[in-house]
Amino acid sequence: MNPLIAPSILAADFANLQAEVEMINGSEADYIHVDIMDGVFVPNISLGLPVLEAIHRHAKKPLDVHLMIVEPDKYLAPCQKAGASQLTVHIEACPHLHRTVQAIKELGCKAGVALNPHTPVKFLEDIIREVDVVLLMSVNPGFGGQKFIDNTYKKVNALTRLIVETGSHARIEIDGGVSMDNAGKLFSAGANILVAGHFVFSSKSPAETIKKLKNIV
Ligand code: DX5
Ligand code: ZN
Repeated sequence: MNPLIAPSILAADFANLQAEVEMINGSEADYIHVDIMDGVFVPNISLGLPVLEAIHRHAKKPLDVHLMIVEPDKYLAPCQKAGASQLTVHIEACPHLHRTVQAIKELGCKAGVALNPHTPVKFLEDIIREVDVVLLMSVNPGFGGQKFIDNTYKKVNALTRLIVETGSHARIEIDGGVSMDNAGKLFSAGANILVAGHFVFSSKSPAETIKKLKNIV
């Protein structure tokens, strides 16, 4: 599978959001990753439905929405209405994950499940065949610009094994601290989608950086 890149809008200039979305439109990016935080599940607040809707108005790439919120079930339909193509919920926030995954799919979105750094891949054993994407957090969620956690490689290997063993079609997405230092190794280990925020938006030419990440292997 071709490496896919999802620039994270969290690291963009929110005062120039339209221009930032247009930069991604004109780049080789495959998605726009949108982080929604509630200040409860994670110790930060980012953006909500009106901003998601505004991004969608200008976006020409599918919106990959990462919900770092408690009780995500309440917001699945509003997120789909605001433009989400892929909706990812945290396993740690979903006591009825099977039901939540079905609800996402019934809305016509791709269903993603995110795992915090301490959450073992084996917790996905009985849901992996239902899931379109597994997002492995490679930093503790809540903030951009953090240091990549090396244990992630081990989790990519375990997840790749689980996907093969179960015949799942799930893709592997990595979120947090992605840069040229780890992108090649992650893709080689079996990752399919890399989220990159700080590394892309703090670079001189974000579109060029997206291209470099995408073509690293
Ligand atoms: C962190 C978010 C990430 C974040 C990644 O909680 O889920 O999507 O934007 O940012 P970088 O690439 O800067 O670590
Ligand atoms: Zn994210």
